[in-house]
Amino acid sequence: MGYRVAVVGATGAVGREMLQTLAERNFPADKVHALASSRSAGREVSYGEDEVLTISALDKFDFAEADIALFSAGGETSKAVAPKAGEAGCIVIDNSSAFRMDDDVPLIVPEVNPDTVDGALRANGGRNIIANPNCSTAQLVVALKPVHNAFGVRRVVVSTYQATSGAGKDGMDELFNQTRGIYVNDPVQPEKFTKQIAFNAIPHIDRFLDDGFTREEWKMTVETKKILDPAIELVAHCVRIPVFIGHSEAVFIETGKPMTEKGFRDLLREAPGVTVIDHRANEGYVTPHECAGEDAVFISRIRKDPTVENGMVFWCVSDNLRKGAALNSVQIAELVAERGLSGR
Ligand code: A2P
Repeated sequence: MGYRVAVVGATGAVGREMLQTLAERNFPADKVHALASSRSAGREVSYGEDEVLTISALDKFDFAEADIALFSAGGETSKAVAPKAGEAGCIVIDNSSAFRMDDDVPLIVPEVNPDTVDGALRANGGRNIIANPNCSTAQLVVALKPVHNAFGVRRVVVSTYQATSGAGKDGMDELFNQTRGIYVNDPVQPEKFTKQIAFNAIPHIDRFLDDGFTREEWKMTVETKKILDPAIELVAHCVRIPVFIGHSEAVFIETGKPMTEKGFRDLLREAPGVTVIDHRANEGYVTPHECAGEDAVFISRIRKDPTVENGMVFWCVSDNLRKGAALNSVQIAELVAERGLSGR
């Protein structure tokens, strides 16, 4: 039996990628509902190469008509609609940050903690809601998981270089329009971002917290603990850069057990979801431009950190719309389907 699937936010940067990914991976869907705001009702979006779906208004949709819903329409929409969808018996996979840290909502990266999925069901004390992590967290924990199993990760220092698509399609448009405008001397008018994003780098993603970190940085810390291990200490510095797709991370880790550079590289070569490209040559590392449209988390520039006892440094790049959002959501849906879980 196939599933009735709803994609909420189907006109957005992540929503479109969700539809593409569902089709590409042949998700067993009998019916796919493409939902967005009433402004977009009647518009068309692609589902795979050949099919076109007509957008329906989210506020008129009855979630009794869906078994699984992938949400990517912002936190406010998720907060307002996802609990009701769950109560209607639909399993919600939510890409926003609205429920990620709730105890009765599993936060899942299928390569890392698939077994927590059962806790989402109402029969097991859940709300039929599963959260998808922040894009920067998702790619990082895929790389950290095998290292943690083998060597015990104690501390992580991570600096991110995040693409504008992490702020949705408006973020990508802002980069495009500003870049073009600067060449013809148009005045720069930041809207989605706090400062000029074209030809710049902005060390400010999401709002500031009292301790001086941004909420994006806080999310990386608490989500890594929830997904992988509460004992891991993680400090992050998150920066938006003028790239359309692909988040990059410079990662510095310390482990309990000693590692050799070769052992570390070999371990990651075997890890699910990871591709290691690591030669000390021009073509021997991956940049965000090259990872766009790819599913893997790419690891390059592996080297020992000589300043601590058991330390390693590496570069981690992934398509934030894929592993960071749409792909991970679809992988969670696949997990639900493989295990025959139902919200009813
Ligand atoms: P719409 O295009 O109709 O505004 P992005 O993250 O790329 O900015 O995309 C956001 C997605 O969320 C879009 O599909 C947008 O639909 C959808 N969305 C935003 N607000 C609502 C809402 N109140 N109800 C339904 N969908 C919404």
